[in-house]
Amino acid sequence: MLLQLCLLYVTIWLHSVSAQSSSIAKPGCLERCGTQPVPYPFGVGPGCSMERSFEINCNTSFNPPRAFLSILGGEIMGINPTNVRVNMPNLALSTYGQGARILTVVYGLSTTRYTFSDQNWLTAIGCDDMAAVTGLANRSFSGGCVSYCQSAGDSGGVASCPNDSNGFGLGTGCCRTPIPKGTTNLFVNLTDVHRNWRNNKLFSTSYAFVGEMVTSNFSYRLNDLNNATIFLSDNWSAKNTPPVVLDWKIGQQNCDEARRNLTTYACKANSECVNFDTNIVGYLCNCSKGYQGNPYLDPGCQDSDECADNPCDPNADCTNIPGSFICKCRKSYGGDGMKGGSGCTKLPPSTIINVSIDIDYTWASGKTEISSPSDTRPFISDIV
Ligand SMILES: *[C@@H]1O[C@H](CO)[C@@H](O)[C@H](O)[C@H]1NC(C)=O
Ligand SMILES: *[C@@H]1O[C@H](CO)[C@@H](O)[C@H](O)[C@H]1NC(C)=O
Ligand SMILES: *[C@@H]1O[C@H](CO)[C@@H](O)[C@H](O)[C@H]1NC(C)=O
Ligand SMILES: *[C@@H]1O[C@H](CO)[C@@H](O)[C@H](O)[C@H]1NC(C)=O
Ligand SMILES: *[C@@H]1O[C@H](CO)[C@@H](O)[C@H](O)[C@H]1NC(C)=O
Ligand SMILES: *[C@@H]1O[C@H](CO)[C@@H](O)[C@H](O)[C@H]1NC(C)=O
Ligand SMILES: *[C@@H]1O[C@H](CO)[C@@H](O)[C@H](O)[C@H]1NC(C)=O
Ligand SMILES: *[C@@H]1O[C@H](CO)[C@@H](O)[C@H](O)[C@H]1NC(C)=O
Ligand SMILES: *[C@@H]1O[C@H](CO)[C@@H](O)[C@H](O)[C@H]1NC(C)=O
Ligand SMILES: *[C@@H]1O[C@H](CO)[C@@H](O)[C@H](O)[C@H]1NC(C)=O
Repeated sequence: MLLQLCLLYVTIWLHSVSAQSSSIAKPGCLERCGTQPVPYPFGVGPGCSMERSFEINCNTSFNPPRAFLSILGGEIMGINPTNVRVNMPNLALSTYGQGARILTVVYGLSTTRYTFSDQNWLTAIGCDDMAAVTGLANRSFSGGCVSYCQSAGDSGGVASCPNDSNGFGLGTGCCRTPIPKGTTNLFVNLTDVHRNWRNNKLFSTSYAFVGEMVTSNFSYRLNDLNNATIFLSDNWSAKNTPPVVLDWKIGQQNCDEARRNLTTYACKANSECVNFDTNIVGYLCNCSKGYQGNPYLDPGCQDSDECADNPCDPNADCTNIPGSFICKCRKSYGGDGMKGGSGCTKLPPSTIINVSIDIDYTWASGKTEISSPSDTRPFISDIV
């Protein structure tokens, strides 16, 4: 019996280890580039990604190596189940007297599997300037904000962006406007509007950039707006503009259409298809509840061992089953056995007799000793 328990224990352990170490990348492909994990459909080099959009150039001339999106060139700061964060420093500049300059922030997202996430904002810095953003999501859109300063000495000459959590609100010399989900092309237009408020222009230049919301303090000296060198040289935008968040998606179809062709359908066993958006084509795959792994790679998502998270009452035994788990109160306890449920409470003596009769019945029905795991605990701790 001791040996049997030992084997059971080792088998369970081996099972959980093999589930954890299942590969995130296509066989024969790198699982990470430097410190960045690279889960399929992303892949390092040709042949390792699902398609060109997800191909990563792992540049080993850095130590540790750094991951770049081959199709856009930006360095990858993170790969998430629905988006990638990419460093693509971008800065639109307008200098008073030279007219507005228009900057296309990113070219050609419409030919990629990426669109701008609604976590991105247009941030404009300057005084008396209006930043307008026009773009193309499923349909064209436009938005804008006005950055304003009362005087050159406003707030001790220090500008700060709106600091409420959603990015609206009043800043000094800084304003923000959100970018809609699904945007493929963006144009930023800075327009001087000082004549609407006063006769003189407080500072000559203004700037704008697109990136994820910076929740930490973002501030600069207003006087710097008179010296374009500060913003244009010294890699100001590389150091100060935040990463751009790009949503990724599979294909040019929604789930209903994609499922019709199993040759191209990307979601493997035990996973579900999730439409990217009601109005924008494309989809993602997600492991079904109780399963984990990479839903884009064969053999699909694997059963996760929920018991490892101790979901049951301390007086219950946990049994992992495909996609779920069962909590069973030990001898002389009653209840649903769940932590956060009714748990297991000690039963009055008369009930205990009834339960022990149940257990006797189980033994009599020919099940092995192992089916009563409450007995195995002390043995296992003895062995270990
Ligand atoms: C790696 O980065 C270095 C330095 O930026 C650059 O010169 C080189 O071309 C890059 N190599 C590849 C394969 O992209
Ligand atoms: C935003 O800034 C103002 C002025 O500096 C300050 O009073 C307020 O507490 C700040 N709010 C947050 C959420 O940080
Ligand atoms: C930018 O602003 C100028 C001046 O207001 C306007 O003529 C131009 O059409 C705008 N461009 C875009 C792309 O919004
Ligand atoms: C933000 O800046 C204000 C004023 O400079 C400062 O009092 C506050 O501590 C800063 N908050 C954070 C999170 O850095
Ligand atoms: C502009 O900023 C640069 C970099 O900080 C500095 O070297 C230069 O002297 C400044 N120019 C003026 C006119 O203040
Ligand atoms: C700015 O970046 C360039 C390359 O992007 C680099 O060669 C240069 O050293 C950087 N300058 C500073 C001051 O960091
Ligand atoms: C499924 O997709 C493949 C690859 O694009 C294509 O060759 C095949 O004709 C499609 N099958 C159907 C039934 O549409
Ligand atoms: C835009 O939305 C329409 C209707 O909602 C849809 O038919 C069309 O496929 C969408 N276009 C793209 C590029 O997602
Ligand atoms: C995938 O499933 C998890 C848990 O069920 C959920 O939190 C997540 O939002 C889902 N992801 C997508 C893209 O639907
Ligand atoms: C225990 O068993 C006795 C006799 O079989 C029965 O009368 C009693 O109701 C049972 N108690 C419970 C809690 O089931």
